[in-house]
Formats: sequence, C-alpha cells, structure tokens
Amino acid sequence: MLILGIETSCDETAAAVVEVSHEHGIKIKSNIIASQHEIHNKYGGVVPELACRRHIENINPVITEAIDKAGVKLNDIELFAVTKCPGLVVALLVGLSTAKAIAYALKKPLIGVNHLEGHILSIFLEKPDLSFPFFSLLVSGGHTELYLIEDFGKYKALGRSRDDAAGEAFDKASKMLKLGYPGGPAIEKTAISGNPLSINFPRAYIDKDSLDFSFSGVKTALKNYLDGFIPPYSTSSIFLPDVAASFQQAVVDVLINKAFLAAKMYNVKTIVIAGGVASNKLLREGMKKRGTAEGVSVYHPSPILCTDNAAMIACAGYHRFIKERDACCNFYDMDAEAQMSL
Ligand code: KG4
Ligand code: ZN
Repeated sequence: MLILGIETSCDETAAAVVEVSHEHGIKIKSNIIASQHEIHNKYGGVVPELACRRHIENINPVITEAIDKAGVKLNDIELFAVTKCPGLVVALLVGLSTAKAIAYALKKPLIGVNHLEGHILSIFLEKPDLSFPFFSLLVSGGHTELYLIEDFGKYKALGRSRDDAAGEAFDKASKMLKLGYPGGPAIEKTAISGNPLSINFPRAYIDKDSLDFSFSGVKTALKNYLDGFIPPYSTSSIFLPDVAASFQQAVVDVLINKAFLAAKMYNVKTIVIAGGVASNKLLREGMKKRGTAEGVSVYHPSPILCTDNAAMIACAGYHRFIKERDACCNFYDMDAEAQMSL
C-alpha cells in the first residue's frame, strides 16, 4: 500500500510517501520538509499568519517533490493521511484542505491524524519490531507528555506539562539569550563549550510521585539571572555557553528523571523519546546512560524523524486506517482543531 502523508501543523510544510508491505513493513520512499525557520527567526517564535501564507506557497511543490522522489504517480497513492490536530488552525487548514481536495478528486480514502500520535509512532519507521508496552516521552515545542503505549491506538496519558513545554522553554530561553529560533538547536550548539554546573537553575519535580512537568520556573530563573546584570543587560556581559549549558542541563535532568520514574512506577522496560526535543544529544545520551544503569531499553528516532515531518503522519495514518477503514471514505466534515489530546 502506498500512502502520502501531509503535515502543516506549525512551521514545516511536509509531504512523504511511505510503502507498507508484508516483507518490509513501513518503508519511507520520500520525506520532503520545507522549513520556515528563517521567516520566524527574527520574531523568536512562529507567527501563525506568516506560517499559513508560506504553507500555501509550499504545499503543492512539496507534494509534487515527494511524489517524484518516491518514483510514483499521484494516482498510485492508495491512502492519504493528513495532520488534523493539534496545531495552529490556520496552518493545519492548508494541509487539510489540500488533502481533502486531492482525495476527493482521486476518489481515494483520507485519514485525519493527531500530530502527537505521529510523533509517538515515528519510532516504527526505523524500529518496526518494537514491542508493546513502552513509555513514550513526547517532547516537542507544544507538548511535554508521558504516555504508556499499550498497543497501536491504546495510549494512557500519565503526565504532562502544567505550563510550558520543554521545547517552548528552550525557544523562550533562546529568545532571552538572543540566540535565534528554533531555540533548542541554538542552545544545544552554544552549550557545547559551556560548563553545565556553572549556574544551578532549579529543577521542578512538583512532588515525588508526580509525572507532571513544569518548565516555567526554570525560564523565570533564567530571566532573573539575566536581570541580575546591569540593565539593559547585554549578552556580551555573560558567558553564553555556561548559561546555555546550565539551562539545557536543568531541563534535561527533569525529563530524564520523570521518564525513569514513570518506567519504575509502571514496571515498563522500554522508553521511546519522540518530538523535536528528542533530537537533543544531551537528552538522548543521558537517557541511554540511565537506561543501561537501570536495565531499561531507550530508543529514539533519527533527528529528521524527531522534528516535524510527514513520514510519521503517514505511519500513524496507516495504523488508524487499519482500525477505522470505513471512516476514511467519509471525510468531508473533518475539521482542523487547535487542541486535541490523544
Ligand atoms: O516536534 P517539533 O518539530 O514541533 C512541534 O510539534 O512542536 O518540535 C519543535 C521543538 C522546538 O521547540 C525546538 O526548539 C525543539 O523542538 N528542538 C530541540 C532540538 N531540536 C528541536 N530542543 C532541544 N534540542 C534540540 N536539538
Ligand atoms: Zn511536532
């Protein structure tokens, strides 16, 4: 089965073709991503109106490139999968309307996908034999959540951020430090030559059995730290690598400790990290190291499959399609939604 995935929930216009077969499972044939980072960089975050306009310009060329690169024809596609939630509604609508139009014209089924499910299942694109149950630490720009994954479509939310998501904390910290957008990679790069022990930023654990997260405190601590310098403070008056490394360490420590607390509480021996922040090297290596010490297997997708992409949407779409085949032919009422839990 050939599936075309479409993703426009935030600031990446993406399309991908995957092929599902008995012999090879789900195989990526093309994975095209048009990023808008340079547009949003000067604002320090995504501007929805600008994102929407750029999606409109990008969507058809990106789909065409995905089809061409996969060496197939649009008419060969047997299932269309599109992100319908959660995300910026004006951005989601571009992908959703395009997918509806193509599926309608070609009389093919279309499935709406929850972006979070896409991130969680992205691991199956590279590790198809992964067995259930496992914990998913989903860390992106909009979400920081812990799910117990019991099967395809069977997810239990056990913890979430009560305020900022981890990626959002990185983005806001990067803005304060004038390092640009997206903040995670900028902070990671700056932190390389810094000492993570130089500033003791707070780690919020809420209470000892809680699987919830909170990152607004560490963000405020960074602001207070910067305000401690003579105003108007300038980034030249501080040693940026030390600040970036200490901030990154504080966020990563909490993520690792909570993920392993969850695994211990539920006696689960596998943790998968997913979402944009899962491409962070300190987090990946810290999780692996702790996993080795505690007898827990830790997996993460390649960086290109951690940040927003359409291959993960096609993958999640396929697994939904298996369960909800009939609903996919009657997609006309499907709408974009800003908030939607799994
Ligand atoms: O999953 P994603 O591409 O989009 C959302 O669904 O939000 O995640 C984007 C987030 C941004 O906040 C970005 O700063 C963060 O992931 N991110 C990182 C890294 N790469 C992206 N955070 C830390 N380290 C990274 N290397
Ligand atoms: Zn995402």
